[in-house]
Amino acid sequence: MANIPKVKLPNAGGLEMPGLGLGTWSGTTPEQWTTSKPWILSALKSGYRLLDTAYGYGTEQYVGEAIRESGIPREEIFVITKLPWHHGRIVHESFERSLKALGTGYIDLWLMHFPIGMVYDNDDRDPKDAEGNYRLDDGVRFQDVWAEMEKVLASGKVSAIGVSNFSVKTLTALLETAKVVSVLNQVELHPYLAQEELRKWHEERGIVTCSYTSTVRGDPTVVELAQKYSVSPAQIILAWHVSRGVVPICKSSNAERQRDNINLPTLSAEDLARVSALDRYERLCNKIGPDGKMSGWTAEQLGW
Ligand SMILES: NC(=O)c1ccc[n+]([C@@H]2O[C@H](COP(=O)([O-])OP(=O)(O)OC[C@H]3O[C@@H](n4cnc5c(N)ncnc54)[C@H](OP(=O)(O)O)[C@@H]3O)[C@@H](O)[C@H]2O)c1
Repeated sequence: MANIPKVKLPNAGGLEMPGLGLGTWSGTTPEQWTTSKPWILSALKSGYRLLDTAYGYGTEQYVGEAIRESGIPREEIFVITKLPWHHGRIVHESFERSLKALGTGYIDLWLMHFPIGMVYDNDDRDPKDAEGNYRLDDGVRFQDVWAEMEKVLASGKVSAIGVSNFSVKTLTALLETAKVVSVLNQVELHPYLAQEELRKWHEERGIVTCSYTSTVRGDPTVVELAQKYSVSPAQIILAWHVSRGVVPICKSSNAERQRDNINLPTLSAEDLARVSALDRYERLCNKIGPDGKMSGWTAEQLGW
């Protein structure tokens, strides 16, 4: 795949994954989800071999269909999907639903999408009360959810398990009871939120750092570097991620931009340092709201 290196998952034996992937979030309505298949297919044709989906995205079915239509052997493609926050009490059933929707025979990597547990109500992906507050299920502990995910791992239908949106605090609490160490943590990470402490902490434990909302394309320094290297701002940032050993997930529904995003320049050490210097601990995607919470949890609970 272009000049994207493979990354080893130290906590999953000899398993390797592509060092950059395509995000497949495609809006919140079933109509938007159905539009994803053609651009997932075009990404596969361009050379992408890592696809990131989730039960909550509603795109698992289209990821599976695109893989089959591509004609690329299943084992050449690495599929990540995620257990949603409202499935903490139906972990095994949730896995079977994801596997059925994908139709891929097995899943390469299954992540707990959030450490937060929500109530299950008619499979509502975003359960909120009349006042708009998230309906937490306080009886669901992420340690118990993980123990069930470990049992699914033992079934052999998934090659590895990991987490998303965990911090040093929540991962430390998870590792206290886990039998299997998470192979990867997918978090918001970009030049404004470089997460160097978390990245190093992961590295010391063999946990791969994977980024979402990976690009901040409008930043003046990034735009200047893009002009210098005759590439797009997204390519500058993706090259920065790869240089740090971070696996960026980037979504593009445009074939040309998809191709750009896997053909990355090699930045000088000085220019990499300029991108790193943009860090200002700013979240752009999953932020703390005016109620002092992100999806029902405080910054303290999240370990942010
Ligand atoms: N684990 C989690 O909680 C979580 C949360 C958020 C996201 N994610 C995953 O991460 C993926 C990406 O997240 P994201 O959408 O927030 O961030 P992103 O990939 O950085 O941004 C996507 C946007 O960037 C545009 N884009 C991509 N490449 C471009 C380029 N070369 N030039 C100009 N524009 C470009 C896309 O537009 P076009 O499509 O028009 O190119 C799209 O609007 C999601 O699809 C999902 O798989 C995970």
